[in-house]
Amino acid sequence: MVPISLAKIFEQYPDRHYIMFGGKGGLGKTTFSAAAAYYLAKQGKKVLVFSVDPQASLSDIFKKDIFGKGPTEIMPNLYAQEIDADHRVREYQQEIRQKILDMYGMDKIPEEIESYIQAAAAEPAMEESAIFDEVVDIVVKGGYDYYIYDLVPLGHALYYLSMASVYDAWIGKITGLRQQMREYDQVAATIRRDKDLDEDAILNELLYIKDRINRSSSILTDKQKTAFFFVLTPEEMIINDTLKAADLFAKFDVPLSGYIVNRVLPAELKGQNIPEYLKHRLDMQDHYLKVIDEVFKDQIHAWVPEMERDVTGLEMIEKLSNTMFG
Ligand SMILES: Nc1ncnc2c1ncn2[C@@H]1O[C@H](COP(=O)(O)OP(=O)(O)O)[C@@H](O)[C@H]1O
Ligand SMILES: [Mg+2]
Repeated sequence: MVPISLAKIFEQYPDRHYIMFGGKGGLGKTTFSAAAAYYLAKQGKKVLVFSVDPQASLSDIFKKDIFGKGPTEIMPNLYAQEIDADHRVREYQQEIRQKILDMYGMDKIPEEIESYIQAAAAEPAMEESAIFDEVVDIVVKGGYDYYIYDLVPLGHALYYLSMASVYDAWIGKITGLRQQMREYDQVAATIRRDKDLDEDAILNELLYIKDRINRSSSILTDKQKTAFFFVLTPEEMIINDTLKAADLFAKFDVPLSGYIVNRVLPAELKGQNIPEYLKHRLDMQDHYLKVIDEVFKDQIHAWVPEMERDVTGLEMIEKLSNTMFG
């Protein structure tokens, strides 16, 4: 079977509005996210490409400082956003302080509690969950034809997915217990205390969080709405890692839409008078391109050449997008 081009894939599955590129660091996820956003925007679709990577580089690739500024227009139909996780964490802290002040009728947070709030905010998990929360906001809010997730390297993306299911299970358990208790309360027909009001508020908040988490994680595993592509390069370790990662993602029910090979040295170099070093690289590449063909068969949807320079700025993004979708 002949592989289907990336452009055809997008044509064939117009309902896949959530686009993700996965793979190890440095393989080209951010580059492909930007190139796909560019292509779709040129097709007249309204696109948001957003970064869930704390070391985001959308600002670099678009040559525009967008960090923490919300969706920023890059060109007609193309918007980019870099999530400021720290800002979100500071908002959480403020919310917690306010809740404590209200609940206990204090006018100042005691020092021990303040230091606890500070320590909790420094946890890496806090940053992850701040990003997660912001992503939920973005997808729940809507307003775009396409959402392109500029993902973190594999391990983190998995963490992100597993967190959604852990959260979900945890909240499911708590809400279940709480509902049972509410039923017991009714049987006992106890007099209503103020505490019940608080606990109902907590239950409602948990149900609200659960609904948000379900909505965003169900997107990630929805074959109808989501396209997930793996980026790889013609090298042994990358091929092996990609196979392992694909297995893992399958376990999380992430629907795989195919693979894209990046950094392919132009074949026309071969006919030219080139140094020994480059010959070796081309031979190695030929070998691994064959391996890729055998292993991934018709699941490869594009071969993207190694460009003459790194990909930053709209001109280079356009060039790369033309080879990716051409
Ligand atoms: N086909 C390519 N040709 C030339 N440079 C590329 C190509 N693909 C990626 N790059 C460069 O490689 C670097 C890493 O790419 P990036 O998209 O940031 O990777 P990731 O997001 O997967 O970590 C960037 O400097 C990018 O410009
Ligand atoms: Mg990146």
